[in-house]
Amino acid sequence: MGGETVSTIPHEDLAFLEKPENAYLTKAQILKWEEGRTFHTDWAAHHFFNWAELLHPLRDRRVRIVEVGSWEGRSALCFLNVLPHSTIVCIDPFAGNVEHHENPYFADLARKSEQQFDHNLAGYEARIEKIVGSSAEVLPRLGAAGRRFDVAYIDGSHIAADVYRDAVMAWSLLDRGGIAIFDDYEWPLMDTEEERPKLGVDMFLAAIPGQYRELHRGYQIAIEKV
Ligand SMILES: C[S@@+](CC[C@H](N)C(=O)[O-])C[C@H]1O[C@@H](n2cnc3c(N)ncnc32)[C@H](O)[C@@H]1O
Repeated sequence: MGGETVSTIPHEDLAFLEKPENAYLTKAQILKWEEGRTFHTDWAAHHFFNWAELLHPLRDRRVRIVEVGSWEGRSALCFLNVLPHSTIVCIDPFAGNVEHHENPYFADLARKSEQQFDHNLAGYEARIEKIVGSSAEVLPRLGAAGRRFDVAYIDGSHIAADVYRDAVMAWSLLDRGGIAIFDDYEWPLMDTEEERPKLGVDMFLAAIPGQYRELHRGYQIAIEKV
């Protein structure tokens, strides 16, 4: 980290510690895989128990994951641990979201996010393909290269049209039985619905009737391709 001080949110303060454990994941496991890593935000840990349960049927398989929006790597680190035979393609320009640039603290974190990602995923390099760029360019390239995936995590731009675009493109890369998870379905910030993910996810689901089975609906939505 070039000698710079990194302030880390203490594990005791993380929201996930208030959540009950389930049969698929324990707090001790999370603390172990996060040990020595540094995160300035927690936008993922409160979903870990849900993901572990949702993805449990895939646990013994060589799962291919694609993630749109990786930030400091917290969600990717969880996927790699709850799916121990998985590999993950992490797509992020590491420039932050539009809303991050309205706040100097988050704008600064955005500038450091790629360095943080590299630090936090140290030791997992063989299972990660980091692609620095926007999903709008990278997902079509993956498609053109014939890449296929079993899990897609959509957590990039929050703009509804961008989420719709990410959904359409990532969905086309999923094999039948593949799972797409959309973050921030109930994200309450910004002034208009065009600036939030929900509209994009709803429009996408309305466009693919009969092609999916809903697995989870709450702050996140998870669907399986049928
Ligand atoms: C909320 S953060 C992701 C958090 C991360 N998934 C986690 O839970 O640890 C959103 C990220 O999406 C990235 N992003 C924004 N627009 C994007 C795009 N078009 N393609 C890929 N990533 C994008 C930002 O740079 C930022 O790092």
